Amino acid sequence: MVLQRSETMSIQSAADVVLIRQAVRQFAIELSFSLVDQTKIVTAASELARNTLDYGGGGIVKLEALEAGMRRGLRLTFEDTGPGIADIDLALKDGFTTGGGLGMGLSGTKRLVNEFNIVSHVGEGTKITITKWK
Ligand SMILES: Nc1ncnc2c1ncn2[C@@H]1O[C@H](COP(=O)(O)OP(=O)(O)OP(=O)(O)O)[C@@H](O)[C@H]1O
Ligand SMILES: [Mg+2]
Repeated sequence: MVLQRSETMSIQSAADVVLIRQAVRQFAIELSFSLVDQTKIVTAASELARNTLDYGGGGIVKLEALEAGMRRGLRLTFEDTGPGIADIDLALKDGFTTGGGLGMGLSGTKRLVNEFNIVSHVGEGTKITITKWK
């Protein structure tokens, strides 16, 4: 797997979420993603950036344009040093929320991408990696 381009952005405000949406859209366009796939990865990024801000107390996201043989993809890694997620299976269930949301962010995101991975430890933080292949 070859890394074509990468960028790390801070997530500290709602304005940062907008900048992340724009950067993810730009990466997806450069990878010649279809309009549908652009929208899917931007939506996923938006949900995870929001969670990083609202529950993780802010953090960072790394955007990576990848090439694996003939395949091209976009990998996004969200990291915070917030409270962590005690029960990951529960957090992934449709409708589960501790913040009065719809509880559809994580479950919806998982359905929009090809790879989805969460590592989280209570009191240490959360790292979520998603990849969308063309
Ligand atoms: N980075 C995080 N750190 C700690 N807890 C998190 C983090 N991301 C998600 N969670 C927990 O997982 C739950 C489910 O997240 P999800 O995004 O699915 O729903 P929501 O944010 O509550 O609502 P919605 O995204 O639909 O507005 C959250 O309510 C929160 O308890
Ligand atoms: Mg959410």
